[in-house]
Amino acid sequence: MKLFHNAKPSVSGLALVALISVSSGFLEATPAFAKEPAKAQPAILTASAIAVADKYSADAAEQIFKEGGNAVDAAVAIAFTLAVTYPEAGNIGGGGFMTLYVDGKPYFLDYRERAPLAATKTMYLDDKGEVIKGMSLFGYRAVGVPGTVDGMWQAQRRFGKLKWKQVLAPAIHYARDGFEVSEQLQQRRDDAAKDFAGKTNFDTYFGNLKQGVNFKQPDLAAVLQRISDQGAKDFYSGKTADLIAASMRGHGLITKADLQQYKAVWRQPIQADWNGYRVITAPPPSSGGIGLVQLLKMKADIAPDFKDVTLNSAQYVHLIAEIEKRVFADRAQYLGDPDFYKVPVAQLIDDAYIAKRAAEVNPNTPSDTKSVQPGLGTTMPEKAETTHFSVIDKWGNAVSNTYTINGYFGSGVVADRTGIVLNDEMDDFSAKPGVANQFGVVGSDANSIDPKKRPLSSMSPTILTKDGKVSLVIGTPGGSRIFTSIFQVINNVYDFNMPLQEAVGAMRFHHQLLPPNTIFWEPYKPIDGELAKQIEAKGYVLKGQDFSGDIQAIKVNGDTPEAAADPRGRGVTRVIQ
Ligand code: DON
Repeated sequence: MKLFHNAKPSVSGLALVALISVSSGFLEATPAFAKEPAKAQPAILTASAIAVADKYSADAAEQIFKEGGNAVDAAVAIAFTLAVTYPEAGNIGGGGFMTLYVDGKPYFLDYRERAPLAATKTMYLDDKGEVIKGMSLFGYRAVGVPGTVDGMWQAQRRFGKLKWKQVLAPAIHYARDGFEVSEQLQQRRDDAAKDFAGKTNFDTYFGNLKQGVNFKQPDLAAVLQRISDQGAKDFYSGKTADLIAASMRGHGLITKADLQQYKAVWRQPIQADWNGYRVITAPPPSSGGIGLVQLLKMKADIAPDFKDVTLNSAQYVHLIAEIEKRVFADRAQYLGDPDFYKVPVAQLIDDAYIAKRAAEVNPNTPSDTKSVQPGLGTTMPEKAETTHFSVIDKWGNAVSNTYTINGYFGSGVVADRTGIVLNDEMDDFSAKPGVANQFGVVGSDANSIDPKKRPLSSMSPTILTKDGKVSLVIGTPGGSRIFTSIFQVINNVYDFNMPLQEAVGAMRFHHQLLPPNTIFWEPYKPIDGELAKQIEAKGYVLKGQDFSGDIQAIKVNGDTPEAAADPRGRGVTRVIQ
């Protein structure tokens, strides 16, 4: 049975693209992507597959594949659907990153939010220069200029096979006709509503969201219908842009000019060779791709120290924490928006540099936190709640997409008469050097606030290939825990040969240099009992954290994909013939 309208695939096919690298090596000029006539592509896999955050987006993707769509069509349909059915993190009022592998080539699309034109370095500081608590997290001034709609538009225009209207149809259906609310969604709404009470208009839109009851969003349906009819321009210069700007007037900084000037950017993904695989992952303004490559390579460099060390034993936790200390020292110093700050990407993922950092690991006891400094020195060249889904189609194209409005339900502000939940991504900037954000991570001038600048992210949508074919598609939410979580699952799969679902469900932990010698555990698989005692005996402090991550992963075995959704969330997998 078809869930939505029975549209036929258009004759257009995967675009052939000419990429023009400019001197930075990261920015690619984006020529007009006129779609080329479809090339008859042979299927190279037995099926397409998805791992997504909820069942509605899984149904949407299945429908798109049945209509003849490819992985990019399915990804865009998933993203719009989650904006409706997973409103705590799915979005059109936020931004994100998409890592793609299309026709055997890697691509990366940065549709991260940008600071408004009126933003200033000190906008979250009081007269004494102290950070005003909560100001970058809740309410109108926390909002960055959203990028999701332009991101989806550019991805689908460039690589999609179906008509734009087809990929919007499932989201419009769920917004207009409603969907049944899950227990987890209601719980997250209740928790968020406490933070937003008296500060935002959140309850006007989400006050009557109840578990088991059909929830309709007519304002959002109207916005999505306009985006379906008019494309991204409705959001950035049409009626929706007017409504967002009107909502902000007198409260926040975003104006119509901000929306008109927003553009998603095609960048060169981070690429590195590891263990016989090519790792394709997120470049700045994410810290996650560089972090992930440093973690993987440093662990490989000290392989002798890991010999006979049991997975997730106290010694394993210690060795990983030692590596993480060095990765987070670099993150705080060097990482920011590459359009504003010259990030030394090549140096940070250089094999010799990583080997030098690996040699500093103390295999026996925790290195003194203060002694772990950024590895390239501090004289640098002068400036020049999230969800993930993974998709692969039977032609071997893959999309790894992580997007976010930051905290659950973002800033708690819903743009009037649109139903669009607006992000609080401004909290990902470093409001003041050395002062931690909500994920406890600090930053330097590399990540200070400037108009049009993108805040530093940890989102790391990742694809591993072997011999030019996709092997793994993976990502997760979790703020600064994102790339340490992906790292652990990759270790579980490739170093410990765990089946994918087991690898995704296994215990995870996290260390990020600060607070000193602190190992965070997660509620799904707490660190307790004997293991806790052994880790503490090594000199670490154990600390619980609320959030567990929500990995969505696909692995290709021979020519057959298998998918795994994190048991910590309400994710769903499908393998579609
Ligand atoms: O971009 C980032 O790194 C964060 N804004 C992501 C937030 C996130 O993963 C929230 N999930 N729990």
